[in-house]
Amino acid sequence: MHGNPVEEDVTGSAALYRSAGCDGAIGLGGGSALDVAKAVVVLARHDGPLAELEAQAGGMDRMRGPYDPIIAIPTTSGTGSEVGRSSVITSHRLGRKIIIFSPWLMPKRAILDPELTVGLPPALTAATGMDAFTHCLESLTCPVFHPLCDAIAIHGLELVIRYLEKAVRDGRDIEARGHMQVAATMGAIAFQKDLGATHSLAHPLSTEFGLNHGLANALCLPAVMRFCQDAAADHYGRLASLFGAPIHSLSPAEAAARAVTEVEKMIERIGIARGLRNHGIPRESIGELSAKAFEDSCHRTNIRACTREDLLRLYEASW
Ligand SMILES: [Fe+2]
Repeated sequence: MHGNPVEEDVTGSAALYRSAGCDGAIGLGGGSALDVAKAVVVLARHDGPLAELEAQAGGMDRMRGPYDPIIAIPTTSGTGSEVGRSSVITSHRLGRKIIIFSPWLMPKRAILDPELTVGLPPALTAATGMDAFTHCLESLTCPVFHPLCDAIAIHGLELVIRYLEKAVRDGRDIEARGHMQVAATMGAIAFQKDLGATHSLAHPLSTEFGLNHGLANALCLPAVMRFCQDAAADHYGRLASLFGAPIHSLSPAEAAARAVTEVEKMIERIGIARGLRNHGIPRESIGELSAKAFEDSCHRTNIRACTREDLLRLYEASW
């Protein structure tokens, strides 16, 4: 299977599922494996291509659940797909990601065993951890009224701040691994609210250049935070305090700015080299990427509205 799951991964597995007469799927692995398990139980009941069920195109109404049960066993701490109702599959045919969404995709059981994440290399621990962090932050700041999700997001942020660096430095630190698993799950619960522009920028970087999703988020997040700094000043002030900044001696604007630099420093501490240019993204691709990012729905719930030109500038600032 591919790092970011592609349509063929799903159609092949669904054919096997049908021919073997399966009645449930276990997703064991990273978010990709979990997303494939969800898409497989869906395709076990639909003949058409996955794109017909695409959430953006009203596919939810064409879903014919309830589907066979899914047990989700994540071996990374990032996507939180184990508690999510969506599945994201890359279609090379369409040149973008297909997102299917339905309450029927929620796994029946999620098993979080930190021992299963011990083998995750530092770079992937860092990248997936930044996905969890971005979920928490974008859901906290998106302008949807959901104080319960906000509380979950804040605790998720706190866990990532405390434990991601430890998990990167010592993969055998079970306490850190366990807390990161919880943070990832909390992030995905929180983003039932919605996400923001970072995810819209990250998605085409994965479909077009195969960049790890969490890494793509980490590379774009600081620029998006600067873009949102005034609009999200209250939330960012709280984030700065989670990093231990003395926000009582700072103005709201200073505290918000401090949050951005703290996030940048954390990204640096966990070993992620700044800049899309250092991760194989050609500068001349930014125009096309921004068109795709604008098509992505996540930025529509960003705390500050984005035009296509804004997204282009955010890629440039992240480059
Ligand atoms: Fe994500």
